[in-house]
Amino acid sequence: MVTQLDGGTAPSDVSEPVPGEPTSSSTLPGLVVLMLERLDVTEGMNVLEIGTGTGYSTALMCDRLGYDNVTSVELDPDVAAKAAAALRRLGHAPHLVVGDGLEGDDNRAPFDRVIATCSVRRIPSAWLRQTRPGGRILTTLGGWLHGYGLALLDVSDDGAAEGRYLPGTISFMMARPQAPPMIDDARWNEVSELLTRAEPRPAVVDMDIQQDWTGRFVMQLALPCVLQRAISVDGGPWTEYLIDVTTGSSASLTPEPGGGWTVRQAGPVRLWDEAEKAIGRWRDAGAPAQDEFRVRTDGHEQTVWFDTDDGPVSWTLGAQDE
Ligand SMILES: C[S@@+](CC[C@H](N)C(=O)[O-])C[C@H]1O[C@@H](n2cnc3c(N)ncnc32)[C@H](O)[C@@H]1O
Repeated sequence: MVTQLDGGTAPSDVSEPVPGEPTSSSTLPGLVVLMLERLDVTEGMNVLEIGTGTGYSTALMCDRLGYDNVTSVELDPDVAAKAAAALRRLGHAPHLVVGDGLEGDDNRAPFDRVIATCSVRRIPSAWLRQTRPGGRILTTLGGWLHGYGLALLDVSDDGAAEGRYLPGTISFMMARPQAPPMIDDARWNEVSELLTRAEPRPAVVDMDIQQDWTGRFVMQLALPCVLQRAISVDGGPWTEYLIDVTTGSSASLTPEPGGGWTVRQAGPVRLWDEAEKAIGRWRDAGAPAQDEFRVRTDGHEQTVWFDTDDGPVSWTLGAQDE
């Protein structure tokens, strides 16, 4: 249930439907319970939550663990104030922090459990540092191409964490500091113009891959810093454009009237070649479901992989906090 749009508009501000990007919401109650069960939260544990939102999930944990064992961080001051008032009305006084949950909360660490109800591109190193060995982290890992997965990691004595993606199609809004960078219309138009001069080739894998939950997730792994937009030039077919914000590389995929898609690419990285390579490796291994993927982070790098008879097929997602 969306409770804020565009970092400002609350339901009480409007009397009829308005457009906007959801920036806060109350998580589906059943999903909150499922996540707490998966996280294996029990009495006596000290828990860190990132994304207080309405305070609903915070309230459930306060009820179960006692509010002194619950710390919840919310970035948005208005949202945080409303949650604090709601929790107070219920008689709960958890440790509420207004700030960037990607930093965790050093004051209340170490935690037995960390749960995020916003998505992150990578596990922040602060969460690792602040989780006790034997503790657990549950978060959706996602990205700008909207490939998401709910991951549960166990923290080991050496301060690394390893785990797996859980079954289901669960996504959360991105942590605000990791929201996609703005690319203005002029840049998209420039890329579209540039790509008209690029050599076309038929696509081996096309954009329909995004209809498949795990297919989209694999595409996300292959293109971690890429943004996508559909543009129709002069009433022509809707073409999907990709821009990699780190290298400036770009690609387009245009559906052909007779079927199939045409790819055009520009820049130092051939983006769609990379996507096709990743999807190819995944399909060659029998297209394993997302819950066969594993994830590991040592505080510096994050690796995602699935195992095959010939060894792991893996992706490294770069530095944690970049
Ligand atoms: C899906 S809502 C949380 C739902 C909440 N758990 C509930 O049960 O109502 C996600 C929240 O994460 C917050 N958020 C986004 N980025 C954040 C960050 N870096 N640190 C803390 N909170 C963040 C958003 O403002 C939003 O309120």
